[in-house]
Amino acid sequence: MKKRLLSVLICLVVVASMFTGCGSSSDSGKKIGVAMPTKDLQRWNQDGSNMKTSLEAAGYTVDLQYANNDIATQVSQIENMITSGCDVLVIASIDGGSLGTVLADAKDKNIPVIAYDRLIMATDAVSYYATFDNYMVGTIQGQYIVNQLDLENAAGPFNIELFTGSPDDNNARFFFGGAMDILTPYIDSGKLVVVSGQKSFEEVATLNWSTEEAQKRMENLLTAYYADGTKLDVVYSSNDSCAIGITNALVNASYSGDNFPILTGQDCDITSVKNILAGTQSMSIFKDTRTLAAKVVEMVTAILSDTTVPVNDTTTYDNGTGIIPTYLCEPVFADASNYKELLLDSGYYTEDQLK
Ligand code: BGC
Repeated sequence: MKKRLLSVLICLVVVASMFTGCGSSSDSGKKIGVAMPTKDLQRWNQDGSNMKTSLEAAGYTVDLQYANNDIATQVSQIENMITSGCDVLVIASIDGGSLGTVLADAKDKNIPVIAYDRLIMATDAVSYYATFDNYMVGTIQGQYIVNQLDLENAAGPFNIELFTGSPDDNNARFFFGGAMDILTPYIDSGKLVVVSGQKSFEEVATLNWSTEEAQKRMENLLTAYYADGTKLDVVYSSNDSCAIGITNALVNASYSGDNFPILTGQDCDITSVKNILAGTQSMSIFKDTRTLAAKVVEMVTAILSDTTVPVNDTTTYDNGTGIIPTYLCEPVFADASNYKELLLDSGYYTEDQLK
């Protein structure tokens, strides 16, 4: 009789655990607010859905919001997350400097904040930061250009133009800084020539990482500096949304085949991977959003269960109020030579998505 009672009890526990996240260590019933910048760029859709799936699998309820790249919308979404009782906030900011007021409220209510991918600046409400090694993204892109042109041995000179991202995104300075640390010696020695002369971060930044803005600027550069037949050998672009605009401008100006400049990117956005296969973009950086999402779920679980939160960098990211303990995931380059292994074999994309 006792035995039967025991097995009934065990069954009940097993069934109950199925409903509460398989007996995971997470506090079921806890709610996590996930604020993403926009649905415009494919990567944020993937980040958002990976976060939601992983957090739900760990037993949490998720409030996932996209803000259409509008700062006021993001602020009000975060306000709602706070008032509706979220226990942790995971935020990929639009403008890293605009969340101070709303996050002061989170801090008052003891709601921990994880800055996701982009650092949130000038507020002491940020507990942790999880991202890819942004500086390394830039050095990989710069090194790709050096290798493709064989700059160690080739005499050059090669003509280059530079594009980076949004000035309100702390990452943009890391990407551009990493790339320029690799490229500047060649610019200084004259092997690389920035024909437009536009080399400072401010001159080459692209507000909101806008494809249209990047396309417009590339069109203007082509008209002003290359219409006389001057050859454009390379365009450094910090990410894919800018690279897509640059490709559009180059294709419209009849660049094709061997004549197409080396062009960098980041995110392995599907449009860019297709461009890589068509020869109208050279490379991208693969940041496996599944890895980042999984790490953030670990962080959330550790915070809520009061155990040690995984971080691997406690020196690099100062948001103006001090260093924010960070977990850096590793980015890798992707091009036509390795995309199959990275993107298809790993299940990141299906073959059909790239057709
Ligand atoms: C991200 C990039 C992305 C860019 C534009 C950056 O903060 O790190 O992966 O391409 O924003 O959305």
